[in-house]
Amino acid sequence: MSVPAIPLNDGTHLPAIGFGTCKLNGSPGAQAIARAIDNGYRLLDSAFSYENEGAVAQAMRMASVPREALRFTSKIPGRHYAYNDALACIEESRYRTRLDTIDLYLLHWPNPAQGLYLEAWSALVEAKERGWVTSIGVCNFLPEHVQALVDASGVKPCVNQIELHPYFPQPEQLAWDKANGIVTQAWSPIGRGNDLQSDPVLQGIARQHGRSVVQVILRWHVQLGSVPLPKASSDQRQRDNLDVFDFELSTQDMAAIATLARPDGRILGQDPAHYQEL
Ligand SMILES: NC(=O)c1ccc[n+]([C@@H]2O[C@H](COP(=O)([O-])OP(=O)(O)OC[C@H]3O[C@@H](n4cnc5c(N)ncnc54)[C@H](OP(=O)(O)O)[C@@H]3O)[C@@H](O)[C@H]2O)c1
Repeated sequence: MSVPAIPLNDGTHLPAIGFGTCKLNGSPGAQAIARAIDNGYRLLDSAFSYENEGAVAQAMRMASVPREALRFTSKIPGRHYAYNDALACIEESRYRTRLDTIDLYLLHWPNPAQGLYLEAWSALVEAKERGWVTSIGVCNFLPEHVQALVDASGVKPCVNQIELHPYFPQPEQLAWDKANGIVTQAWSPIGRGNDLQSDPVLQGIARQHGRSVVQVILRWHVQLGSVPLPKASSDQRQRDNLDVFDFELSTQDMAAIATLARPDGRILGQDPAHYQEL
């Protein structure tokens, strides 16, 4: 399965679909992730807080794909945002994974009330200068948070990873990221098992194209220009979720999916303006 590459603003590239690894831990997790790599995924989304950086790296060694072809992502949690803690956290990721260089390292949440994300960002900039990480970015950052980073450091994030699915499509944030040369990655891209799969609009579009609802949603991401990171345990689902590059949704399909947006469409109501995750 050939997955197109998306250019980042630092001259590197990422695949147009990645693999979500949250809750895939230990030996069963490593085996599921290794299967995902063998099924064609090249971008693996982990985080310090998922407690599975070791399992993801183990899967990278188990799979039949060279290290250089894979992109490993981790994220600093808010509890390690003080400058020295953030640097130590990145080193811990390197020790746990036994990877000299982490391909993409992100700040997990802005936690604006905590007031430390600028400090954590300068640690990421320093880690990049030291060659510990290749690309750096953020998750769940609103435009004001990204602007503060750029004003303080002069360094733009490559990626902003945000909650994005048909119930919560965030068109303004997506457009802002794009206008500022930042690639938007979508977390919970298929709604984390919510009722999207029984939605009649999506079911109708899926029937017309002879595809599953999940494939329609993932294709919708690709056409919007967001990089979805679906998590799937089984072989069949992993393969189905990658198989979205040989059909196209019409303008009418895209407009119909846009009507599913809900003001309160977030899965757990985690608004980055107020939500704090340490
Ligand atoms: N940056 C952040 O703040 C943040 C927050 C949340 C998540 N994330 C990242 O985003 C990734 C994905 O998000 P997510 O895990 O919350 O939700 P998701 O990928 O939207 O949904 C995963 C759920 O959908 C099921 N599924 C997968 N493929 C399917 C298919 N073809 N048909 C039917 N069901 C299917 C999975 O089941 P099975 O696993 O049983 O197959 C699982 O229950 C995470 O793993 C993590 O890497 C980042």
